[in-house]
Amino acid sequence: MATSSSSLVLCLIISSLIAPSTSNPLSQVCIKSKNPRFCLEVFGLNPHRSPHELTQEALNLAVANASGTATKIDIFLDRNEDGNLKVIYSLCLNYYQAAVDVLKAAEEFLIQGQYSNVNTAGNIVEEDASNCENTFKKVPGNYVSTLTKDNENLGFLGSIVVAAADILSNSTSAKN
Ligand SMILES: *[C@@H]1O[C@H](CO)[C@@H](O)[C@H](O)[C@H]1NC(C)=O
Ligand SMILES: *[C@@H]1O[C@H](CO)[C@@H](O)[C@H](O)[C@H]1NC(C)=O
Repeated sequence: MATSSSSLVLCLIISSLIAPSTSNPLSQVCIKSKNPRFCLEVFGLNPHRSPHELTQEALNLAVANASGTATKIDIFLDRNEDGNLKVIYSLCLNYYQAAVDVLKAAEEFLIQGQYSNVNTAGNIVEEDASNCENTFKKVPGNYVSTLTKDNENLGFLGSIVVAAADILSNSTSAKN
């Protein structure tokens, strides 16, 4: 990342921290997510997005990320000879495919205005990520997770979906 855009991100984070109750939905969503810095980085710097647009974008980003990792796990599964690792990777592949499915369902829920279901979907995605990570610890043989970064990313993205759906339902109920 270029230095200037890094410092812009930093400015955004700092201004978000100073004024968390501003009417800027982007900072509201990111502050509520598990990793505000990650959140601001993946969304980019355009603050002029509605809670609905942010939720849609969070779902798109999470689907793309989970699908990308699923493809990667599929390759690991193919190339590995170790039986235990094959078990781990097939379980993780199931978690990631489940995450993709739930995120796609959430896109429909968003269209239908069922925001609490979008929120639930985000929570499930966070669980899928931590389930995959924990699989490495549950299988005997002291396997070190090769998917920590991916699981972290998916967990953070799930928390952004949760935060965005929260802000969205709040913003719509406030108007009614
Ligand atoms: C998921 O998103 C993160 C943050 O943008 C990125 O660093 C990572 O490469 C992505 N992973 C995949 C598999 O697309
Ligand atoms: C919802 O809005 C109210 C009033 O603006 C605020 O006090 C509350 O913290 C908001 N809740 C969430 C989840 O952002």
